[in-house]
Amino acid sequence: MTQAPSLTSTSTSAPDTPHGAPQATPYGTLPPASTPSARKPLSLPRLREMHAQGEKITMLTAYDATFAAVADAAGVECILVGDSLGMVCQGLSSTVGVTLETMRHHTECVANGLRRSQGVAWLIGDLPFGTYHESRDQALRSAVTLMQAGAHMVKLEGGGWTADTVRFLVERGIPVCAHLGLTPQTVHALGGYRVQGKTDEAADQLKREAHELQDAGAAMLVLEMVPAILAATLSKTLTRCPTIGIGAGDGTSGQVLVLHDMLGMNLGKMPKFVRNFMDDAHSVRGAMQAYVRAVKDGSFPVNATHAW
Ligand code: KIV
Repeated sequence: MTQAPSLTSTSTSAPDTPHGAPQATPYGTLPPASTPSARKPLSLPRLREMHAQGEKITMLTAYDATFAAVADAAGVECILVGDSLGMVCQGLSSTVGVTLETMRHHTECVANGLRRSQGVAWLIGDLPFGTYHESRDQALRSAVTLMQAGAHMVKLEGGGWTADTVRFLVERGIPVCAHLGLTPQTVHALGGYRVQGKTDEAADQLKREAHELQDAGAAMLVLEMVPAILAATLSKTLTRCPTIGIGAGDGTSGQVLVLHDMLGMNLGKMPKFVRNFMDDAHSVRGAMQAYVRAVKDGSFPVNATHAW
């Protein structure tokens, strides 16, 4: 007679049942995303192909193994371990206080979750404030820390001054995602979480910097809180660098949201650019699937509601 699995077992592996199905494990079982052969792992060539074909790229933040595995199973293509974790996980009032060690830890947790669940998502680790500002060597050391924790790509914030750093990292085999518009690590210099690129001068500067970053080899560019028309125009001209919008309207190559926001867990005033996907879903996975569908079919975001 087969004995029921003990919930107090100290075994760390998940032995199979006699029928081959994985046993239930305490503290959450990470499900295989789908049959391993059904979905190809995301890669830079695959992301470039999606960009070239005009297929929208989906991205969500995740900070731990389980949410990462569920997002992957829901079909989210890119998972960003954002330094927004300082706010949603650590309770900080901005991302400025997040350290490299914290980012390393959460990147490793997410990478573990994807590995255990046979996930296929592209994993991006955010370089936190002060870890790439001093020198290109400092940036390389910080990037290596996140890559060795399991990231496939690192993200850094800022305009033209980061182009040299981007080139340096890319030449050394580290894919880089740039980030323009509202750059939360510089919230104090910007005077708050405000829409960027509103004047002609600011818009021209943002376009110039985006092209410098593309020329430096950035393989992706997050555009945060910039007018929809600016993001759409820019996205059309960046032929080698897909844009991922957050509060940037429907004309970007893809979209990203912070996990807690799209699950309706923002306890303050919900930013205008967020949609609560839990409203019509029965599960977190369902909400994520609805997000993927909405981004792919262009029904999210809606410029009149979610953009400037
Ligand atoms: O830290 C983060 O989550 C981000 C996204 C908002 C793009 O940078």
